[in-house]
Amino acid sequence: METTRTLGRSGIEVSALGFGCWAIGGEWQDTDGQPLGWGKVDDEESVRAVHRALDLGVTFFDTADTYGAGHSERVLGRALGKRRADVVVATKWGNVFDEETRTRTGGDDSPAYARRALTASLKRLGTDHIDLYQLHLSDADPARAAELRDVCEEFVREGLIRAYAWSTDDPDRAAVFAAGEHCTAVQHAINVLQDAPGMIALCEETDLASINRSPLAMGLLAGKRQGALPAGDIRSRPPAWLQGFEDGTGADPEWLARIDALKDVLTSDGRTLAQGALAWLWARSPRTIPIPGFRSVAQAEQNAGALAKGPLTAEQLADVDRILGR
Ligand SMILES: NC(=O)c1ccc[n+]([C@@H]2O[C@H](COP(=O)([O-])OP(=O)(O)OC[C@H]3O[C@@H](n4cnc5c(N)ncnc54)[C@H](OP(=O)(O)O)[C@@H]3O)[C@@H](O)[C@H]2O)c1
Repeated sequence: METTRTLGRSGIEVSALGFGCWAIGGEWQDTDGQPLGWGKVDDEESVRAVHRALDLGVTFFDTADTYGAGHSERVLGRALGKRRADVVVATKWGNVFDEETRTRTGGDDSPAYARRALTASLKRLGTDHIDLYQLHLSDADPARAAELRDVCEEFVREGLIRAYAWSTDDPDRAAVFAAGEHCTAVQHAINVLQDAPGMIALCEETDLASINRSPLAMGLLAGKRQGALPAGDIRSRPPAWLQGFEDGTGADPEWLARIDALKDVLTSDGRTLAQGALAWLWARSPRTIPIPGFRSVAQAEQNAGALAKGPLTAEQLADVDRILGR
């Protein structure tokens, strides 16, 4: 397979695999103490993992201002250093947070906040432009989002961003952003267990890239099976939108059973389970760009190693649908 893909109608070329930088933000929480991060991380290991990804040909990194309440952007900016010019950086705005207490305090869908958030992200990332700026408020009011789309067009004219997207699972909302000239992608949930046919169809109709969040089902498709997760890890106390994990006990047995059923087809041709899950996404559509999370050099190597193995075949794709009864 080509190891690069085009980021929608922008024509920007990226590695077919991006690296998701949520986990490397470390611990942060909601005002009620709900963990929003993935527990403790070692920043030096995160930096080494980004360097390894760069060496293995990864040129696309996805973060958000709110991950670790600014920490993920700072670590990514530090890791990229002078190599910033060689990569495509995506970040997000819309959540309001306190960097001192590492707490998300709410959301803000105003145009004035978008500009303040962009200025702060540029500073934390140590860059003069964002390649892809994404609205992080997945359920924002579409009329309000249309105003934010126009604000993003202003940011493009000012040279502060190159393109923009909405991170949402709702194709109707994604279509509101798609009406903007420099909208080039939608970021949405999709993995081999959770298909998103409506969103893939929209991407094909409107020439957007489909940026795939949670491509490894938050670790389950990388083989995570253990029971209790450490406090401070969002998966230990899953909010309503987080599927596949049960409160305090770890993975949902029904999800694990479906993963077991898919194991042979996903690990065929010498792939690890995680590599097979990424291969399914590439086979699903030529527009997909999975962005698996990572927190170590070993995970970075395994995930980047999927690029050389390419997509599943059409026959394997059909096998997956048959096994899952789709
Ligand atoms: N609303 C939004 O916009 C939104 C929401 C969610 C995610 N995202 C983006 O999408 C990215 C990816 O999604 P995600 O973080 O939800 O989950 P994911 O990519 O499905 O799972 C990532 C997790 O799986 C484990 N893992 C990764 N590679 C592995 C490997 N090779 N072997 C074993 N374990 C491995 C790691 O956690 P452990 O080591 O702890 O198991 C890692 O943090 C995020 O980083 C973020 O950039 C965006």
